[in-house]
Amino acid sequence: EKHLPCIMTEYRLTVLPGDGTGKEVMAEAMRVISAFEKNSPISFNITEIPCGGEYYLETGREWPEGSFEHCRDNSDAILLGAIGWPGARLPNGDLAGGQVILGLRSGLNLYANVRPVKLFQGVKHKVHGVHKDIWDPNLVDMVMVRENTEGLYHSLLRRMSQKAIGEKDDPMVIEKFPGLDGEVAWDTRPISRMGSERVIKFAFDLAEHRQNKLGKPQKVTCVDKSNVTRGCQLFRKIFHEIAEEKYPEIEINEAYIDAFTMWLMRDPESLDVVVLPNMFGDIATDLASVLQGGMGMAGSANLGPKHMLFEPVHGSSPKHAGNNTVNPM
Ligand code: IPM
Ligand code: MN
Repeated sequence: EKHLPCIMTEYRLTVLPGDGTGKEVMAEAMRVISAFEKNSPISFNITEIPCGGEYYLETGREWPEGSFEHCRDNSDAILLGAIGWPGARLPNGDLAGGQVILGLRSGLNLYANVRPVKLFQGVKHKVHGVHKDIWDPNLVDMVMVRENTEGLYHSLLRRMSQKAIGEKDDPMVIEKFPGLDGEVAWDTRPISRMGSERVIKFAFDLAEHRQNKLGKPQKVTCVDKSNVTRGCQLFRKIFHEIAEEKYPEIEINEAYIDAFTMWLMRDPESLDVVVLPNMFGDIATDLASVLQGGMGMAGSANLGPKHMLFEPVHGSSPKHAGNNTVNPM
């Protein structure tokens, strides 16, 4: 609510259907939007932009020139279907269409990837043999907040945003890895104080908001691998600083990602807001979708200081594309 100025009645919506089933779910989303427009004082000025791996295979471009600038300068919100298509790779090996999703995440500073995991009434989760006959609103109702601008995605995100602002690719760095011979490929995983602080604060603010809305105490769980990696040690240290200094009234918990995957399946009712570094958030939210009825039920918001982009958690799912069977929820 904070982001939307109330006086405006027309919003500029940029629609990026993307690849495969992304196009199918977007067609359904457009029907919801027009039904909404008919029944409210709000309307949308919609610009649809073709993009993604399939578009790249057809045209040699990930999206038309000026698309990033349009998203940046002329969009109150962006709605994305899905990105990625088999065989669609840039000459340097990067995902074709990555500019669209990763370039927007980094170029617009969409640092909080908010992924609610909620089991709606009447929906069966997909954990074998555990479905309860009586639906309990507390069973699965959590929000995962994934850091969205650094971590293991950092080098790719930076390549994408440099392109977006017209700079050249990073020069290749040649290093020797002791003990490793032959061809070596690697990804750096930098985690910064600034990047961690803003997403962790976001998670605590969200917990406060949920506390007021749901009328019950909320807990923020920090998920990382701080027993092993330095970036996660910084992430967890900042989590504790922020919890103690700014949110002493909110309960906290912490878990290593490996054990967390087990607790997520075993005790989903014990989780409220969960904050995770980038790649762990990517993986854990696919797993968590099992608890909410599958990937078709999993939605996602990429939020930054000035922009917002909404998308399903699922990908273009080439296997299902063209059948019009994917859940557009
Ligand atoms: C997601 C997707 C993306 C990611 C891909 C399409 C680049 O898996 O939004 O979770 O890895 O973040
Ligand atoms: Mn993912």
